[in-house]
Amino acid sequence: MHRATTGRTLGLAVGLATALAGTGAQAQTAEVLHYWTSGGEARAVAALQEEFEAAGGTWVDAPVAGGGGDAQATVLRSRVLAGDPPTAVQIKGPNIHDWAAEGVLANLDAVAAEAGWDDILPPLLRDIVTYDDQYVAVPVNIHRVNWLWINPEVLAEVGAEVPTTWDEFNATADALLEAGITPLAHGGQPWQDATVFETVVLGLGGPDFYRQALVELDADALTSDTMIAVFDQMRRITGYVDPNFPGRDWNLATGMVMNGEAAMQIMGDWAKGEFAASELTPDEDYLCVPTPGTSGFVLNSDSFAFFEVEGDDRVAGQDLLAGLILGESFQETFNLFKGSIPARTDLDRSAFDACAVRSMEDLDSAVAEGSLVPSMAHEIAIGRAPRGAFLDVVTQHFNSDMSSQEAVELLLEEVELAM
Ligand code: GAL
Repeated sequence: MHRATTGRTLGLAVGLATALAGTGAQAQTAEVLHYWTSGGEARAVAALQEEFEAAGGTWVDAPVAGGGGDAQATVLRSRVLAGDPPTAVQIKGPNIHDWAAEGVLANLDAVAAEAGWDDILPPLLRDIVTYDDQYVAVPVNIHRVNWLWINPEVLAEVGAEVPTTWDEFNATADALLEAGITPLAHGGQPWQDATVFETVVLGLGGPDFYRQALVELDADALTSDTMIAVFDQMRRITGYVDPNFPGRDWNLATGMVMNGEAAMQIMGDWAKGEFAASELTPDEDYLCVPTPGTSGFVLNSDSFAFFEVEGDDRVAGQDLLAGLILGESFQETFNLFKGSIPARTDLDRSAFDACAVRSMEDLDSAVAEGSLVPSMAHEIAIGRAPRGAFLDVVTQHFNSDMSSQEAVELLLEEVELAM
């Protein structure tokens, strides 16, 4: 059964496929390309696989190691160019629109209508997963990027309080250094450097400056005194990581905070998936607080998109998978494992921990106050090319003695080349 361009009647497709699947007549197969290979990530994607298989689907796992997704994006591009796209792929932000513009993504309107996505998705997510007013992807979660993860016992060793400004962060880090403790666990990879960078932009410049610099790519903002101050702070931060930070995977840095090798980590709340996988409890074994200076919300959201593929079994597998992802029970199970909060806004909050509830509450207030901003580091704010310019310059600066003035000049040059 080939997909009609106007979308399919989900009821018939899934009903028929599910009914027939029981007789083995119509397989429902999905090869799923993703990069969720850490402890917490793997638990979360396993929950999706289990739900899909319980509904009669055949899951073909296609993981690509490498947090942040840059390695997976390369694999995806080569497979599509080779005419061999995966059935489903974990994808985000403007990348979804880029692929939709190529006309290679399946239209999910029938699935969306059947499941009432218009009623359960917040507008900010609907904008990400629709193109030309058609659903071309399904969001699975909302991650918050601007979190500081803290081992309270390590902080107590120097009698430090939880830092709420970058000056307090620096003073706490200096005290930790003095005591021979690594202040900040960090993995030296471009996307991780950019994760820290964007939280400093928000903390020092505020949401309006963040949007001017990282969304609108405004030349004055990119070369402003505020951006100079951001790179000054990034230089301070380079003094707070351990000598073995280059190339370290993000989840190993999270492990350093867990076992007390370091006091803090700046990372999105997929890090909470690691704490949860180790059965650690927020506000007891670890603290989750907004990164210094931010009361806003740097949003990242993972989605699945479905490429136009041949084969009735794969088309049926896409219908089944797309129809499961926003289901209430799945949304709870998956996000508890992943460390994120549900994509759908109508879920009961009682199963979620203190960090998740804080994320939900802070998201609501950020929307109300206008301090909700899209993550640049995690491919929500801007396209691949300008994001690449930021990652290049921020990582070059982090790993050299480049001055802040040189950094902002290089940043403007590279961003303008990428636009
Ligand atoms: C992000 C992704 C998250 C998380 C993280 C680390 O870009 O959206 O789901 O997995 O990378 O791999």
